[in-house]
Amino acid sequence: MRGSKHSHAVVLFCITLAFADSSNQNFIQNLQRNVGEYGTSHFSWNIQNLDHANYQSLRAIEDDNDREFRAFLLNHSPKVKNLLAREHVTMERNITNGEHEDKTHKTHQRKLRKRDAALPQRMAILIAKAQPRKIIRSLQKREADNTTQMMIYNIDPWFSIADLMSLRFPKKYDDYFNSWSQSIVLFGNSEIHREEFKHNFNRLPLQIMLELLSLTDKFQHIFWPFNFDQAFMNQRLALLGMSGLSINGHKQKERFYAELEKHQTIKVPVEEERVVLSFDHPDLVEGLNRSGLLEMSKEYVEAGNHLYTLKEQEHITSKVQAAMDLINSTNPELYRAIHQVIGCIAFYKAEQPESVGGTISSALGVIWQDPSVYPDHSVANYAEQIVHEFIHSSLFLADMVHGTYIDRSLLTKSKVYSPVRKELRDFDKTFHASYVTTGVTIFQSRAGNVGDAQTYAGTLRAAVDGLIAIQNKAGVLNASGAAMLQAMDDVLTLIRME
Ligand SMILES: *[C@@H]1O[C@H](CO)[C@@H](O)[C@H](O)[C@H]1NC(C)=O
Ligand SMILES: *[C@@H]1O[C@H](CO)[C@@H](O)[C@H](O)[C@H]1NC(C)=O
Ligand SMILES: *[C@@H]1O[C@H](CO)[C@@H](O)[C@H](O)[C@H]1NC(C)=O
Ligand SMILES: *[C@@H]1O[C@H](CO)[C@@H](O)[C@H](O)[C@H]1NC(C)=O
Ligand SMILES: *[C@@H]1O[C@H](CO)[C@@H](O)[C@H](O)[C@H]1NC(C)=O
Repeated sequence: MRGSKHSHAVVLFCITLAFADSSNQNFIQNLQRNVGEYGTSHFSWNIQNLDHANYQSLRAIEDDNDREFRAFLLNHSPKVKNLLAREHVTMERNITNGEHEDKTHKTHQRKLRKRDAALPQRMAILIAKAQPRKIIRSLQKREADNTTQMMIYNIDPWFSIADLMSLRFPKKYDDYFNSWSQSIVLFGNSEIHREEFKHNFNRLPLQIMLELLSLTDKFQHIFWPFNFDQAFMNQRLALLGMSGLSINGHKQKERFYAELEKHQTIKVPVEEERVVLSFDHPDLVEGLNRSGLLEMSKEYVEAGNHLYTLKEQEHITSKVQAAMDLINSTNPELYRAIHQVIGCIAFYKAEQPESVGGTISSALGVIWQDPSVYPDHSVANYAEQIVHEFIHSSLFLADMVHGTYIDRSLLTKSKVYSPVRKELRDFDKTFHASYVTTGVTIFQSRAGNVGDAQTYAGTLRAAVDGLIAIQNKAGVLNASGAAMLQAMDDVLTLIRME
C-alpha cells in the first residue's frame, strides 16, 4: 500500500522536476538541504539511540506491513553505525555528554514541592489575576465615551496600522519559500517606517498596553506562528523536503506524519481533523523516553505509574476541550494552526516531576503535558500551556524548512538573559523563550487573562534587545533566523511593548 503510494508520488515529483526551471530546482535543493540538516542535528539522536531491544518493542512501527520503514531503521541501527558520516559520530559523543538534554525546551514552572511554599505563590497568582480584570472592566466602560483616552494613546491610527500589518503569505511553494524572510517581518526592510512608527507611537506601560491589546483582534494577525497559511505551508514544504512528496493538501497532516515517522522514528498518534489526546500509547511512551523529552525507568512504566486514572483522564479531557474552545474563541486561526501542526498531546506523569510539560526538537508534533504538577488548573492555564508548546513546535518546523542558525556550536557560547527562567541561557533557549513569551502575551491579552500575560512580559523587551545585540556581534542566526528575530522585534514594536 505504502509502496505503491510512494512510487506514485515519486512519479509526480519527477514530472514536477521535468517542468521546473532552474530557480525552482534551486528551491528544491535548498529546501532539501535545510530539511536534511534538521534531521542530522535532531533526529539522528533518536536513531542512534535505538538499540535492538527497543527496535523490537516498537510494535507500532507495524514492521510486517511496512518493509520500507523497517529497512530504513535497520540501515541506521547501531549495528551498522559505520555507515554514518563522521560528523554523526562526533555529534553523538557530544550529545551523550549532555548536549542532547540541552535540546529540550521544557516549561519551567517547577513543581511546588511543599504545600507551604505553594500557598502564598498561588495567592499571588490570584491577586495578580483579579486586579487587572477589574481594571479592564472599568477601562472598557470608560472607553465608550472617553475620547481623551483614544487621543492620548493614539488608538485609532495604531489599530489601523496593526490591521495593515496583518501577515500574508504567497500560495505557491517556491514563492513562499523564497519570500519567507520578507513575509514574516512587519516593517519591511526600511528602517524609516520602523523609526517613524516608534516616534509617533511611544511605548506604553505594560498594564495599559495589555488592556488596549484586549480591545481588538487585530494584534492576533501579526505574529507568524499564529498564522494558519504559514503553518500549512511549512508542513507541506517539510513533507516535500523529506520525501519529494508534493500533495494537493488532502490529508496533508496524516501524510506528513507518516513520512516524518521514517526520519524521526517516533510513532505519533495522528488524526487529520483532531489533536489526539494520548493517555496510553506504549510506543509513544517509548519514543518520548528515547527522544529525551520524558525519561522514565522500565520499572516505573511497567508498574503503570505514568498513567492517569480514567477519572483523571476524563477531567483532563474536559479541561483541554474547554481550553481549545477558549483558543478558538480568542483566535480561530491559531486554533486551526494548532490542529494542523500538532499530532498529539501526550498526558503522562513524570517519574521526576520537574516541569509541567514540554516539546523537543527530536519529537516533532508531540506536546507532553503533566497537569498533575500544574500550579494552576484553570482552563486559561491549560490554554496557555498548549499555546506555549505550539510556539516551540512552530519554531522547530520553521527551522526544519527554512533554517535558523549558522552554526549550532555558537549557541552554547552565546548566552542571553531569558525572560522565562530569569537567568542567562544559551542563545537558542532565550530565542525560544522570548518567542513563547511574545505569543503568550498576545494570546492572553485578548483572552482576557492580563495577569497571565504579565508574568513574563516584563523582561521580554530586554531579552529581545539582548538577542539582537548578540546577533549583531556574533552572527548566530542565518538569514531566515535573523528574519525571525526581526519579526519578533517588530511585533514588540507594534504592540508598543515597554
Ligand atoms: C478618560 O481617560 C483618561 C486617560 O486614561 C482618564 O484620565 C480620564 O479620567 C478618563 N475620563 C473619564 C470620564 O472616564
Ligand atoms: C528509557 O531509556 C533508558 C535509557 O535511555 C532506559 O534505561 C529505560 O529502560 C527506558 N525506559 C523505558 C520505559 O523504556
Ligand atoms: C471555531 O470558531 C469559529 C469562528 O469563530 C467557528 O466557526 C467554529 O465552528 C469553531 N470551531 C470549533 C471546533 O469550535
Ligand atoms: C539559512 O537561511 C536561508 C534562507 O534565508 C536558507 O536557505 C539556508 O539554507 C539557511 N542555512 C542554514 C545553515 O540553515
Ligand atoms: C563537541 O562540541 C564542541 C563545540 O561545542 C566541539 O568543539 C567539539 O569538537 C565537539 N566534539 C567533541 C568530540 O567534543
